[in-house]
Amino acid sequence: MAYERLEGGGAPPSAALVTGGASGIGAATVAALRADGTRVAVLDRTQPSHETDGVRSFIADLADPDAARDVVDTIAAEWGRLDVLVNCAGISGAMPVHETTDDAWARMIDVNLSAAFRTSRAALPHLARTRGCIINVVSTIALRGYPAQAAYAASKAGLVGLTRQMAADYGADGVRVNAVAPGVTDTPLTSSRFLSDPEWVADVVGPVPLQRAARVEDIAGAIRFLASSEAAYITGQVLAVDGGVSTSSLSAVPRRPQFASSLTVSP
Ligand SMILES: NC(=O)c1ccc[n+]([C@@H]2O[C@H](COP(=O)([O-])OP(=O)(O)OC[C@H]3O[C@@H](n4cnc5c(N)ncnc54)[C@H](O)[C@@H]3O)[C@@H](O)[C@H]2O)c1
Repeated sequence: MAYERLEGGGAPPSAALVTGGASGIGAATVAALRADGTRVAVLDRTQPSHETDGVRSFIADLADPDAARDVVDTIAAEWGRLDVLVNCAGISGAMPVHETTDDAWARMIDVNLSAAFRTSRAALPHLARTRGCIINVVSTIALRGYPAQAAYAASKAGLVGLTRQMAADYGADGVRVNAVAPGVTDTPLTSSRFLSDPEWVADVVGPVPLQRAARVEDIAGAIRFLASSEAAYITGQVLAVDGGVSTSSLSAVPRRPQFASSLTVSP
């Protein structure tokens, strides 16, 4: 029996909301979705650094419990639909547990995890109508420990759990939920360290099989794919976009062989 491909190959999504879309990975995601003709709303506490046609910008702090619902309701009323939610807004902070205050812990969990929960809760009724999808931006630090990232790791690991749970709960309604886990990426969140701390750059790039940090476009491309109908049968997944670092142990290898000179192609 031949199986018909049910949903793949369809039109690009019509309307998307990207939190944290004013900067870095979020801004690149907005550009990638706009390139497909998708209307995009951005919810961010700061103004996007450059205006893009077809983008509706909302300035709000996701720590405000009503912010996400108000924005989702407004765009759903204006556009009549919502197809994609990208929960990308996030903050970081290097702290081991013994140096993490209650306030710092609460703020990290609130912005990185609870805000994604609230935004997803507001968006789900609309996504169920369009058989839409959610993409959560997590981190490889959610998958493996990294020095002094207690609250950040916990917030992102929580978002991985929420991703899988929502995929299980809402798949029957046609809503897909996935996560993208970037490795270290050169964005405003990390650029000062890229510029000022060569030892840190060597530490984070050294173990990466592809031997470079991610560009924002690398991450945005994966988000765009997961938002597209090409990913119609993918849900509950965490796609690491990290140059291979989370599937290797190269940091434990003192000297790295290069194989190019001995890799020959048969004539
Ligand atoms: N840069 C990296 O190396 C890296 C690696 C893994 C994961 N990530 C994740 O990718 C996402 C994007 O990070 P980025 O590197 O592009 O950072 P970024 O600082 O360039 O962008 C984050 C955006 O989120 C917004 N934001 C933060 N708190 C907010 C709040 N309370 N309300 C509304 N908006 C808020 C900021 O204003 C900013 O525009 C984050 O979730 C981050 O944890 C980044």
